[in-house]
Amino acid sequence: MAARTRVKSVEDSIRDTEEPEHRLSKSLSALDLAVFGVGVIIGTGIFVLTGVVAKEQAGPAVAISFVIAGVVCGLAALCYAEFASTVPVAGSAYTFSYATFGEFVAWLIGWDLVLELVLGAATVSVGWSGYCNSLLGDLGVPLPASIAGETATVNIPAVVIALVVTGVLVLGIKLSSRVTAVIVVIKLAVVLLVIILGLFFVRAENYTPFIPPSEPGTSGGTGWTAPLIQLIAGFSPSTFGVSGIFAGAAIVFFAFLGFDIVATAAEETKNAKRDLPRGIIGSLAICTVLYVAVSLVVVGMQHYTQLSTDAPLAEAFRSVGLTFTSGLISVGALAGLTSVVMIMILGQSRVLFAMSRDHLLPPPFGEVHRRYRTPHRITIATGVAVAVLAGFVPLGTLAELVNIGTLFAFLLVSIGVIILRRTRPDLPRAFRVPGVPVLPALSAAACVWLMLNLPAETWVRFGLWIVVGLILYFLYGRRHSRLATGTPGTLGARRGPA
Ligand code: ALA
Repeated sequence: MAARTRVKSVEDSIRDTEEPEHRLSKSLSALDLAVFGVGVIIGTGIFVLTGVVAKEQAGPAVAISFVIAGVVCGLAALCYAEFASTVPVAGSAYTFSYATFGEFVAWLIGWDLVLELVLGAATVSVGWSGYCNSLLGDLGVPLPASIAGETATVNIPAVVIALVVTGVLVLGIKLSSRVTAVIVVIKLAVVLLVIILGLFFVRAENYTPFIPPSEPGTSGGTGWTAPLIQLIAGFSPSTFGVSGIFAGAAIVFFAFLGFDIVATAAEETKNAKRDLPRGIIGSLAICTVLYVAVSLVVVGMQHYTQLSTDAPLAEAFRSVGLTFTSGLISVGALAGLTSVVMIMILGQSRVLFAMSRDHLLPPPFGEVHRRYRTPHRITIATGVAVAVLAGFVPLGTLAELVNIGTLFAFLLVSIGVIILRRTRPDLPRAFRVPGVPVLPALSAAACVWLMLNLPAETWVRFGLWIVVGLILYFLYGRRHSRLATGTPGTLGARRGPA
């Protein structure tokens, strides 16, 4: 079958989940999913990026950046919820794309999701290491800079955390969700503490100017670090002002990332059609409210020019003399980042699992462990990749690649909803996006807009990553895919509607 026509029907995707060697255990409820969602969403974004964006791009209006990013994610979340309730199969955007755009785009999305998940998990592991070392420092036993922190030769704590959570994931999804539940309670308690206690220290003068006037230049100093939209429109690069709010939204978008990962646990959910939309939209709604509240409080406690870019929440409390609370926040951040790393590795392993089940990756990779019912090989491979990246590669600006990769996936899922409504109007949809095609089209446009607000250099790196993915597809996946070879399990594959 020509790659162009290789569309995997929704029925075939669901049938594949029943194959004994590919069956995952179905044990998650809507609450487990919402916990998973909050577990992966609240992390580096709110604990670190709030300070970075307020100080360098948006000032106190960082709260508006959070609202904008939240709205973009809300639109995309509706699209994810419809897909997840129609095709409750592991793999999230990858699986949805296979059913709508066909194999070629599905591969691209699977490849693209590595940016979100592996790179994202590595980025957060490095953040974890930073917080860990700052706590060890408070206890008087800091690790030397050569083995901890972003400038380390080998970032040992980052490697350790990636490998430990990988071990937990191999042992079973139910155990992972129990560990996550405990962490989520700690994380939510700390975030609520920041909001409630912080309110008493908010000073009105810190909100002035709420939107700092636009300034020429970018923090990186070269044109390539300016948002692409500024270069295309011929503006000279600038920070702050209204464009700073949008550029900030494209960065704090990272803080919302994760609700889509809930969809990757589709096959492990007891009543996926009902519970996935609840889990996805519920977790996103909770986090959006918390983010806006936290950012308003933090920029109210400390003038944006004074905010820390490493640990802004903890530092804001230290600045008003609450050192003990500052320590508590660091502990909460550490716990919080742990679950983010864990769930990102989980999400990546489920996407790769779905890809190897379709033989776009070598099939032995996708086998499920007899006793634990988890795709152990893929999970271990993913964990090791994250550990190596986190341990040896200085990630820094590469984190923006995570955002562009994720926005690209959101873009395709949004368009996919419109397409699947046309090609398969007959499919039962437990959740339907209201106002199709307007709302998904708006979602797609919003994703493109945020992508354009990312630095030009991020676009170049993204392009290179996609080119590597294309080469791999033509060297391996195109020839080995189940749809190409007609391997049992997808024999009913056909183009479009049944
Ligand atoms: N949303 C996750 C975070 O903020 C990725 O760390």
